[in-house]
Amino acid sequence: MEKNKASSRRKFLRSFATTAAAVTVGSNVFATENKSSFVEQLKRKATAANDNINIALIGAGGMGTQDTLTALKVPGIKLVAICDLYDGRLEEAKKKWGADLFTTRSYKEILNRKDVDAVIVGTPDHWHQQISVDAMRAGKHVYCEKPMVHGVSEGPAVIKAQTDTGKIFQVGSQGVSSLGNEKAKQLLKDGAIGTLNYAEGFWARHSPTGAWQYPIPADASPANVDWETFISNTKKRPFDAMRFFRWRNYQDYGTGMAGDLFVHLFSSLHFITNSFGPNKIYSAGGLRYWKDGREVPDVLLGTFDYPQSQAHPPFNLSLRCNFVDGTSGTTYLKLVGSEGSMDVTWDSVTLKRNKTTESDDPFFIDQMKKAGTPVSDRKRILPPEEYTFEAEKGYLGGPYDHFVNFFNAIRNGGKVTEDAVFGYRAAAPALLCNDSYNQDKAILWNPEKMQIVNK
Ligand SMILES: NC(=O)c1ccc[n+]([C@@H]2O[C@H](COP(=O)([O-])OP(=O)(O)OC[C@H]3O[C@@H](n4cnc5c(N)ncnc54)[C@H](O)[C@@H]3O)[C@@H](O)[C@H]2O)c1
Repeated sequence: MEKNKASSRRKFLRSFATTAAAVTVGSNVFATENKSSFVEQLKRKATAANDNINIALIGAGGMGTQDTLTALKVPGIKLVAICDLYDGRLEEAKKKWGADLFTTRSYKEILNRKDVDAVIVGTPDHWHQQISVDAMRAGKHVYCEKPMVHGVSEGPAVIKAQTDTGKIFQVGSQGVSSLGNEKAKQLLKDGAIGTLNYAEGFWARHSPTGAWQYPIPADASPANVDWETFISNTKKRPFDAMRFFRWRNYQDYGTGMAGDLFVHLFSSLHFITNSFGPNKIYSAGGLRYWKDGREVPDVLLGTFDYPQSQAHPPFNLSLRCNFVDGTSGTTYLKLVGSEGSMDVTWDSVTLKRNKTTESDDPFFIDQMKKAGTPVSDRKRILPPEEYTFEAEKGYLGGPYDHFVNFFNAIRNGGKVTEDAVFGYRAAAPALLCNDSYNQDKAILWNPEKMQIVNK
């Protein structure tokens, strides 16, 4: 393994040397060069449309609408139907996409339509599994929002439906299709940060909508909200607009900070490292500020042990999410190795390398001289300490690329990275954070077999 790593590092240094040479002959590989940093632009080739694909949206709220707008930017994609449980959302959809659009409260009516090739599942988490499985079994390709499932026990049914039907199933953690994640994957493979030993990520917010206090429509009532269907696969309760429109705050429907946000970091990390996931999961946190009746914490920390695998050395991961964060107001993912670190976003990677300068300690220099290895005091040219890889202007972003990958797989009978197995391996450790928090103990998980390990 050490031998492989050394050769990877050499590869990174060699590839850097080649690219640096390109700068001197006037290539546009680097947009900026200065003494201590390089900036390289990341590029994406345009894709061409062939067969037309008809899509339908199930769950036309915030993300479902956003997903549909993105999907429709891909050439050859047409929206034919929309399903939602709140009539207001169906009316908005008609205003946006045309009065002729077929709309319904029943997702099964969408699945029965012959003109629908693929569906986007943008419902709350507690409906992901059932609608995805029903859709694949009805012959539809599925783009399902993250997390793939609401509970760890629900994953195998989605994997089985994908295997049985051969339909394209992709989970919606868009980052995995981005230029930034792809570059980080390549840099790690090329040995740019040496041996990976640690990763960390966080989400920080401090606003009502950031903390899931979404507006509740003034007209919301049992007449225009299909509450009975909404709760039909979970605990029966009387109509409650807070639960319907702010579903993330309640365990019956949402998956807390871990299922909502950690899952993105797991997806990107697993894509970059080719990891199957952690084998030990522990989380702690509390409800510190947003005491609006929610059942989930607003500050959550998670620590994870990643065991040695064929793809990577053992390493640790630390994640945090804070909805009362007065300073950071952002998110990031960092990978740390023996020779450097990478800050990874969807549009960029900032690589920092260890400074490899010789010591100017007089005692050390004297010892070296005595040992017959004199140290020169001549100043040297140093390599850059920081490299920035940035998506070039006009890049349509990870969300667009994710849909391109989904539709390409449908058109070419190909595969997607974030399929049901990948989606489950990203969702499970996130969902197990909630179990760890609720049970106040570490949870053991077999990432290869995708099973909880009972001691
Ligand atoms: N990938 C991302 O970056 C990202 C970002 C935000 C949300 N999401 C995910 O998208 C999903 C939706 O989140 P949101 O913020 O859009 O929520 P939302 O409340 O805005 O929208 C959900 C919609 O689903 C409808 N709905 C509920 N149950 C339904 C059912 N059984 N059939 C049909 N429609 C149903 C609701 O009426 C609502 O309009 C969640 O799973 C969330 O985790 C992903």
